[in-house]
Amino acid sequence: MKLSNIAIPTALAILANAEKAPVFKPFDKSQLSKSSFFEQFDSDDWSQLWKISKAKKDDEFSYTGEWAVEEHKIFPGLKGDKGLVLKTKAAHHAIHVPLETPFDNTDNTLVAQYEVKLQEGLSCGGAYVKLLSAEGGPSDDVEFNNESPYQVMFGPDKCGTTNKVHLILRRKNPNTGVYEEKHLAVPPLARTVKTSTLYTLIIEPTQEFEIRINGEVVKAGNLLDEGVFEPSFDPPKEIPDESDEKPADWDDRAKIPDPEQTEKPEDWDETAPYMIPDPEAVKPESWDESAEEFIPDPEAEKPEDWDEEEDGEWIAPTIPNPECEAHGCGKWIAPKIKNPAYKGKWTQPLIDNPDYKGEWAPKNIANPDWYHDATPSDLEPIGAIGFELWSMDADILFDDIYLGHSVEEAELIGNDTWAKKFELEQDAVLAYSDDTKANDESGAEEEVVKATGGDDAFAQLQSFIDDAQEYLDLFMSDPVNTLSSRPAEAALYGGLSFIVASIVLFVVSSILNVFTPAPTQAKKEKNPVAEAEAEVEVEQVETKEETTSTSVQE
Ligand SMILES: *[C@@H]1O[C@H](CO)[C@@H](O)[C@H](O)[C@H]1NC(C)=O
Repeated sequence: MKLSNIAIPTALAILANAEKAPVFKPFDKSQLSKSSFFEQFDSDDWSQLWKISKAKKDDEFSYTGEWAVEEHKIFPGLKGDKGLVLKTKAAHHAIHVPLETPFDNTDNTLVAQYEVKLQEGLSCGGAYVKLLSAEGGPSDDVEFNNESPYQVMFGPDKCGTTNKVHLILRRKNPNTGVYEEKHLAVPPLARTVKTSTLYTLIIEPTQEFEIRINGEVVKAGNLLDEGVFEPSFDPPKEIPDESDEKPADWDDRAKIPDPEQTEKPEDWDETAPYMIPDPEAVKPESWDESAEEFIPDPEAEKPEDWDEEEDGEWIAPTIPNPECEAHGCGKWIAPKIKNPAYKGKWTQPLIDNPDYKGEWAPKNIANPDWYHDATPSDLEPIGAIGFELWSMDADILFDDIYLGHSVEEAELIGNDTWAKKFELEQDAVLAYSDDTKANDESGAEEEVVKATGGDDAFAQLQSFIDDAQEYLDLFMSDPVNTLSSRPAEAALYGGLSFIVASIVLFVVSSILNVFTPAPTQAKKEKNPVAEAEAEVEVEQVETKEETTSTSVQE
């Protein structure tokens, strides 16, 4: 939903609501410890502290996306409250803030927390934060780009039906010096509402970790528990021996042709046809072989301007013989059935291979690069906090960014900033919904559901169609880049149009069936609309669970 699409009285109502809204007051930072970082974009200092990337690729700036610090453009909370806003649709954005002193998490708790407000929704794009490595990270000489090393990547990422809150830790193998990204194997779902969402990551020195959304724990576990991170923090103890070779006499054929049956049996008739006329079928008694199936149309008349000399002899067009409606006419032919004597082409039968040794696999050896990562919570020093993002949806607002060692501080901030703001935003959503309803009965509820990311199947279908439309628009304007930057979606919407085409065909054929009193079709009583919805629900079933708790439906 865009503000420009809102009816003028509605826009006025939102403004009126904003007029009454409490005024933003900065959070009192003296409540935080000195080592904590906190940014709420409440002063012009931000432009000195935050560095917009000027990284180049092939001599051209690759991060053309713009950043701004501005007030909320939808469902405003506190008057005068500003956030950092990603401004450009379908462009790469990168910005970071260097920390005064590197953040050291050795034997300590790490708490990273920030707000995301998807003011235009999120059809395809990231809204995650990167805690950048102090070593090799951006500096006065090195611009921030997608290759800048990070320690933690955390936050929402959504494209089409893929939706997750990433949690990735980058760990170095001390034996090889190679870094590997360790991904949370089953990440929670990101909220896709247009109100502010608070994301909190807590990593304890006990290796316990927690992800909270809006102050509620949505994921908790231990970094070292099996299967929680993929790949696991410890590399495999054993690896296949690369130098091992399959012996020349290794027989890995499970089946072999039967040596006892090398010839086609005498009675095997390869020529027997697959279908034959049904020998049991009999011509119905009423069938009239003497009557013609087609007869000249008795009502046809030779056109007046027909010239036999020029046009040749006039012959009346034929029509199906009306006499044959009740019984068959013309030569009777028995219907065909599958030939029981059909054998097809003979091939030598297969038997179990007595020399079969199974699939060959190289033997395992101890992994020379193995190490035990007992404390993945001990990150390397973090030198900066950055956003390096691409998004199909502009105006993603970030705010109240915290990095520290204290869960209490994060909760204090959450309660003092996000919670107050969120309550007002919910009021704005309701005011908008009431007002739209008064002005326009028909579309109001859908709009609210869309705005709040409600779990109504229709809203999801609608937003999915919007996403597809947006993708198509982009594709029409720049097909090559769209395909290369978002290949998964191309497949998704390509597949979707096939599904839609199938549904349309299904609906049309169902309607036709209503008018065709064929007894064999009496059973088909499926509801095409319900089917279409079921289709969408399958796609959206994950998102559903996630959106319910913040939706403001009546
Ligand atoms: C507010 O504080 C309470 C405890 O003081 C905590 O449980 C809750 O998660 C906090 N809310 C947020 C949004 O941080």
